[in-house]
Amino acid sequence: MRGLSGKVALVTGGGNGIGRAIAIRLAEEGADIAIIDVHEAGMEVTAASVKALGRRCEVAYGDVGDHQAAARATKALEAKLGTFDVLVNNAGIVRMAAVLDTRPEDWRETMRINAEGVLNMLKIVVPGMVQRGGGRVVNLSSWLGKAGRPYFGMYAASKAAVLALTQALALEVAPHGVRVNAVCPGLIEGTPMRESAEAQSKALGVPVAKDRVQTIPLRRTGTPEDVAKVVAFLASDEAGYMTGQAINISGGMWQH
Ligand SMILES: NC(=O)c1ccc[n+]([C@@H]2O[C@H](COP(=O)([O-])OP(=O)(O)OC[C@H]3O[C@@H](n4cnc5c(N)ncnc54)[C@H](O)[C@@H]3O)[C@@H](O)[C@H]2O)c1
Repeated sequence: MRGLSGKVALVTGGGNGIGRAIAIRLAEEGADIAIIDVHEAGMEVTAASVKALGRRCEVAYGDVGDHQAAARATKALEAKLGTFDVLVNNAGIVRMAAVLDTRPEDWRETMRINAEGVLNMLKIVVPGMVQRGGGRVVNLSSWLGKAGRPYFGMYAASKAAVLALTQALALEVAPHGVRVNAVCPGLIEGTPMRESAEAQSKALGVPVAKDRVQTIPLRRTGTPEDVAKVVAFLASDEAGYMTGQAINISGGMWQH
């Protein structure tokens, strides 16, 4: 498939994990790739993979939770690659705690990166899409964006915010030809975030991924590529009649 030939896609958090898989998949579909991340060495690894596919790739250091820094990084990338047809808001962090033990600094940092970071990038990139009369946005929420679970209160709150922004913006910009959707991955292994969640789960005495596989209808955890395929679909014309949706990629664990 070459559904994104001639398009330029900006992927936040593309320096690792799911973001890297998304960048590579979009490049396989023919897109040139821009990446904003705070993980410089990781971005270079992703860029090498994208370039090996014959696509252009530019990277910029930037904290999505800092509006000015994110705007500076975006502008520098746009100057090199041209305007963006696709925005994937993937950057995120996970901090676990019981709701009643949540430290204000962890709450603020989680909301600053996971929720405000998405809002910042939307405000920086989407006005240009509206002006040009088209664009596709895919936001990374989570199955935990649809329901709180023990010890994931602040993370779930931040991912519910992503879904609310997705739905509101989708309706606001639909008349301008801009589609805005979200994906809600389940347990995705092979990423530093999953490793962090596993370590935090162990410390809190919560079941880890391998103990939870039996509760997943498809009896396996997901891979970054499982997510990347769906993101590429939503970013393509194949999903031309879809906006404001929140698609589960959870092996059947979630059905609403
Ligand atoms: N792994 C899972 O099981 C899972 C499940 C559901 C949703 N998600 C979501 O998918 C996305 C990617 O998750 P992942 O598992 O690949 O995580 P990851 O930790 O492997 O990658 C996240 C990337 O975001 C970058 N990043 C972090 N803070 C940033 C900031 N302030 N500014 C710019 N970049 C920043 C990191 O450097 C990293 O490269 C996240 O939004 C996460 O919440 C992951």
